[in-house]
Amino acid sequence: MPIAARSDLRTLVESSLTLIEAHQHPSGAYPASPDYPVYRYSWLRDGAFIADAMSRAGRADSADRFLRWCATVIDARAGRITDLVARAERREDIGADEMLPTRYTLDGGDDDEPWWNFQLDGYGTWLWMLVAHAARHGRPLAAYRPAVTATVDYLIAFGDQPCYDWWEEHAEHRHVATLGAVLAGLRAVVHARDEHGEPLLDAARAAAAAAKVSEFEALIATEGTADGHLTKWLGSTAVDGSLLACLTPFDLVEPGSTVAERTYEEVRDQLLRGGVYRYLGDTFYGGGEWLILTAWLGWHEARTGRTEAARQRLEWIAAQATPEGHLPEQVSGHTQRPEYIAEWTERWGPVATPLLWSHAMFVTLALEVGR
Ligand code: BGC
Repeated sequence: MPIAARSDLRTLVESSLTLIEAHQHPSGAYPASPDYPVYRYSWLRDGAFIADAMSRAGRADSADRFLRWCATVIDARAGRITDLVARAERREDIGADEMLPTRYTLDGGDDDEPWWNFQLDGYGTWLWMLVAHAARHGRPLAAYRPAVTATVDYLIAFGDQPCYDWWEEHAEHRHVATLGAVLAGLRAVVHARDEHGEPLLDAARAAAAAAKVSEFEALIATEGTADGHLTKWLGSTAVDGSLLACLTPFDLVEPGSTVAERTYEEVRDQLLRGGVYRYLGDTFYGGGEWLILTAWLGWHEARTGRTEAARQRLEWIAAQATPEGHLPEQVSGHTQRPEYIAEWTERWGPVATPLLWSHAMFVTLALEVGR
């Protein structure tokens, strides 16, 4: 692979920021991909990490607009959350289709298409991102209190329920990356204060959220680890690329700790080719290498002093750009099950390109490597 010149990398960072801003909807939502029909929605997961990259890159207004969109979406559903929490307290059965969705239309409406909607991680990730962004740019938080409160109530009641994972699969399991995102969100808001110095959460909620954090930490330590590393779901022995987020940036485990090192090594040794697979056995478009996960591996490597490895990941991602500088969701060079490529292409078209989350993670890694 030719080594991309520093100026090429810089150009791709700039064009990535421009692309993300150009596609941000007036509402503040980011579509997952503007050119891929089933991704013309805003996912809390993708969006929070896109906004995080914009915040890190100094595009604080873009991140603010996304965060205000999140608050509007959640404020509009506060009554629904109160109702769900009350039903959970009465131990009523609640269907997965009654829970909050993972994605919304760009103007904040419910998505009518059938989707694997019950996913909890995005509700933790937006809280984590909100607090990190406010600390980075000195942003006010008081206006977010109702949405934060509703989200915390939702996560306290349901945060450890089985649900679809980052890849919208395996609703029957409790996924460590999902628990990690929920934990990171709750941890971030427990001690957060607004611009007047007032705690963001009232004392009772803060105590309940802190108790959940401890409970989740214990759950992951006992059931979410095997052979010294974090696992794909509680009770599994496999790894998954999404576990990288539990190391960096969520700090579920200390970056240099044995569990973090073992998780990093297993993900790298099992899932890295040129880029990183989601997991072994993936069949989505044949199960290729994902740009966001390659950036994630590099992000953790940069953070743990493996600068040369991190730089290689950055170069590899840049080398996947199309001639117009667009980054896809995944590439098919080392596809695990090539026979599935045609099936997905017929169903949904070619691999989503550009994927805004890929651009965002490239930016995040470039900033880390360039530090
Ligand atoms: C991925 C999700 C992502 C969504 C939109 C799906 O294929 O599995 O993680 O949120 O695409 O980018």
